[in-house]
Amino acid sequence: MSHSKKSLPHDSAYTHVRGESQFIDDIPKMQGEVFVLPVLSQIASGSIKSIDTQKVLSKPGVIGVYTAKDLVYNSWGPISADQPIMAYEKITYLGEIIGIIVADSYEVAYEARREIEVTYEKQAPILSVNDAKKLNSFLGDTYDWKTGDIAKVKKAGHHKLQGTFTNGGQEHFYLESQAVIAYPAEQGALKIISSSQHPTEVQHVVAKCLGLRYHEVVCEVKRMGGGFGGKESQASHIATLAALACHKTNRSARLILNKDDDMMITGKRHPFQNDYEVYFDDAGKIHGLKVDFFADGGAFLDLSPAILQRAMFHVDNAYFLENAHITGKICKTNTASNTAFRGFGGPQGAAVIESIIEDIAHFLKIDSLIVRKKNLYANDNGLTTHYGQLIENNLLPEIFEKLEQTSEYQKRKTEVEKFNKKNKYYKKGLSLTGAKFGISFTSKFLNQANALVNVHVDGTVQVSTGATEMGQGVNTKIQQIVAEAFAIDASDVKIMTTSTEKNHNTSATAASSGTDLNGAAALL
Ligand code: HPA
Ligand code: CA
Repeated sequence: MSHSKKSLPHDSAYTHVRGESQFIDDIPKMQGEVFVLPVLSQIASGSIKSIDTQKVLSKPGVIGVYTAKDLVYNSWGPISADQPIMAYEKITYLGEIIGIIVADSYEVAYEARREIEVTYEKQAPILSVNDAKKLNSFLGDTYDWKTGDIAKVKKAGHHKLQGTFTNGGQEHFYLESQAVIAYPAEQGALKIISSSQHPTEVQHVVAKCLGLRYHEVVCEVKRMGGGFGGKESQASHIATLAALACHKTNRSARLILNKDDDMMITGKRHPFQNDYEVYFDDAGKIHGLKVDFFADGGAFLDLSPAILQRAMFHVDNAYFLENAHITGKICKTNTASNTAFRGFGGPQGAAVIESIIEDIAHFLKIDSLIVRKKNLYANDNGLTTHYGQLIENNLLPEIFEKLEQTSEYQKRKTEVEKFNKKNKYYKKGLSLTGAKFGISFTSKFLNQANALVNVHVDGTVQVSTGATEMGQGVNTKIQQIVAEAFAIDASDVKIMTTSTEKNHNTSATAASSGTDLNGAAALL
């Protein structure tokens, strides 16, 4: 059908370029709206001895100061509810939220924040994977996966290399920080407008923590100014703070984190520190791999188990591992609770074996492309992953052959080597590699979606799904799917604001599955 073949501009292209796209803080203020500012812990580990709010409460413009005691329920988490919305006595990281100031303006709130007096009892914080290992500080379960017979490989007299591969954290740096406005509705109900990848989770966490039922809270998401995983779980506790302020004051409450606070409070990509042993022969063929993954989960569980498992699922990347022993542990450290971030552990896993392949090439003094080709999933090598999945329709050996030719890899490699011999300080590098990525949630029940398709009497269509637009273009893709299904022009289809009122019990827009799941729901 001709409609669908046309490539459409992003649904926000026009309004973004003209500065007309509405982000949370562009929403005009309501009469009497209040501003919410979190108060952050100044220590990384220990306890709160006292919070003196008296002086601040008498300041003109300060409406209230609220702490953990003001919540009906003070625990949340996407997998296990182990994280307080606001710290209660115990402090687990620098920047942890210990209270909120509600004021007439941000200026007043910031001034008040400087005057809040908190006394602490400090403890030595755990700040690294090594510290956590030493002190046996872990979160959640330990994973232990085996395939083949690594014990036999160890005795077979192959070459052995061992080492540690580490990757650091990474800040999401979405241009729109965590942002939310809570509006009072009739009979104690609430409407939340959030910059979230997961409106359903926002709805549920807000309701639980305020002692409301799910049908008393609606969460709407028009768009995010970037998410990258940083708003998969991390929007929920922030929304709860605005909801509390709204609930207490019966006024609309706005909470827009500034960048400094956002970076203090919210988690990052998981740093990992992984120990490995690899056994291989003269040709570069890997016979055995042992990797012990240590993810730095930060202070709470958040999504760490799913991220660690995804790292473990991706440690083969594009290569057949006949004998492997892969373990994983989550370190509990006194840092912000680390969270989802593009790739969700996949890059952390794949980087380990890519680095190992470079080690092997270096040891054997051969080009790493030879080592890669020797180990690719292939009919004459093996097609079953270390977690038992059969790789179907495998084209890796053919693709590698073809790319090596069409990219003129060998010729370029010779040129790079020549350049590097001549230049002492400037060096060039060249690599040809593949990447496997597991699309969809590893928790299978999350791979579901629902859609509401309204067909109007003038022939136009409004589509609502649980998918949230964060710049990735999910709205445009679903618009095209629906236009093609009805054989109408894409301009006759509008994608509406995501709302838990229209689509409930949804999964986060995550795991590279937003269009597949929500587009399919709209199509059906
Ligand atoms: N599970 C949960 N959230 C996610 C995943 C996953 O596998 N991938 C990206 N976000
Ligand atoms: Ca962040």
